[in-house]
Amino acid sequence: MEFTIKTGTPEKLETGTLVIGVHAGGTLTAAAKSLDKASRGRLSKILARGDLDDKAGATLLVHDLPGVLSPRVLVVSLGKQEEFGDRAWRDAAQAAAKALAAGPAAEAVVCLADVPVAGRDFEAGLRLLTRILADAPYRYRTTRSVPKEEPRKGADHIVLLTGCELDASMATAVRNGQATAEGMALARELANLPANVCTPEHLASTARGLGKEFRFKVEVFERKEIEKLGMGAFLSVARGSHQPPRLIVMHYKGGKPKDKPVVLVGKGITFDTGGISLKPAAEMDEMKFDMCGAASVLGTFRAIARMALPINVIGIVPATENMPGGAATKPGDVVTSMSGQTIEVLNTDAEGRLILCDALTYAERFKPACVIDIATLTGACVIALGKIPSGLLANDDALARELVDCGTASGDRVWQLPLWEEYQELLKSNFADVANIGGRYAGTITAACFLSRFAKAYKWAHLDIAGTAWLSGDAKGGTGRPVPLLAEFLLGRAMAAPGA
Ligand code: BES
Ligand code: MN
Ligand code: ZN
Repeated sequence: MEFTIKTGTPEKLETGTLVIGVHAGGTLTAAAKSLDKASRGRLSKILARGDLDDKAGATLLVHDLPGVLSPRVLVVSLGKQEEFGDRAWRDAAQAAAKALAAGPAAEAVVCLADVPVAGRDFEAGLRLLTRILADAPYRYRTTRSVPKEEPRKGADHIVLLTGCELDASMATAVRNGQATAEGMALARELANLPANVCTPEHLASTARGLGKEFRFKVEVFERKEIEKLGMGAFLSVARGSHQPPRLIVMHYKGGKPKDKPVVLVGKGITFDTGGISLKPAAEMDEMKFDMCGAASVLGTFRAIARMALPINVIGIVPATENMPGGAATKPGDVVTSMSGQTIEVLNTDAEGRLILCDALTYAERFKPACVIDIATLTGACVIALGKIPSGLLANDDALARELVDCGTASGDRVWQLPLWEEYQELLKSNFADVANIGGRYAGTITAACFLSRFAKAYKWAHLDIAGTAWLSGDAKGGTGRPVPLLAEFLLGRAMAAPGA
């Protein structure tokens, strides 16, 4: 998909579909005004008939508006003017993106970048608009038969029209928005692939492919080397599976050699049966999505490498299946983590924290500026927060605040839960240093408490994406979250660096 940014007014442009915004009650944006003028008031006359719903994101397709060269005008409602803000703008942009991805026009001109949103600067809006438009056409096809003569659909060239004078930062904003969507597409694709295709080795070869394409170093460790590292917790999860585990380490070096890296750690359980603590059958297929943390790390690497961000980032992905079997770890088994702490595995379905804890210990060697782990860790997080924000827990308040702000800016929101010392008691074990579950209460918090014991050497944040990484039901599939959040975070860090 191609994006161009142009300056001007829409009435003289000839394109498949023109997209303009109007407020409920017929208040026109600047672009809409110019079309109304060119059509001698026809646009406002049509809108006065009431066909366009007041709700932000409602759309009305108008054909052959007199005095306008383009055959279609897609009018998008921005909702009531007095209620207008980021939310309404986002709904409008999403609706436009959806319509353009499904419509017959191969080229479109979108006039939504100039609609001002309080608290957001023009470049950030442009970046967001581009990302939303570029993400909408993603379709999963890999393991589906597609008719050979499928009719062409969706816009593959979008012109972003602005009344402002063009400058280089606008082109950068558009490119960065596209890069983020590209990262989301990779994350969505890896999420959607079935677990018989998306194995630990598949994640590893995808990472190697990224390293080749963007020229960064990728290391893949196999079972023997993982044993040598002493990752007893990680390996205890892999015991029941016939798929060999992989530890994937990616080194993106866009910053100065001495700059401390941000480390991203992604949970890569390519299928979670629960192990001996077997999950019930209903919806177990969705446990192929249990590698969405890993997918978001790979997706974020694609995004930042495409943006060529001046920052150092390390990605660590422990990848394995969690299966029952004759060699599988049993409830009550005690394993020794890389940190030396022993763990009583009271429930083999609490496996995410077992692979992450060793990856967190491994992260120490990079002397990180901070570490963020991303994991579909607990069903409890979906109960607590639903599918709107990801859960956030951190051992550093400034880092937590930074992530909350990036969530708001990118629309990929997070909500912080407490990581108070009192909760640690729930992880007591009579037979090891720590138990891998904390009972019925506060499941998301006790999972994070467990991880915090392995993240003492640095500033650390944990994102529980169990509710946000995929959708169920008719729209079943990966969302690409939290790639937008992580891209926003790293973009912010890169721009804040001295000399950037
Ligand atoms: N991958 C699951 C978490 C999960 C469950 C994500 C449902 C999305 C939807 C994780 O490995 C798991 O099984 N967690 C257990 C922990 C429990 C045994 C303490 C859970 O949430 O039930
Ligand atoms: Mn599990
Ligand atoms: Zn899991």
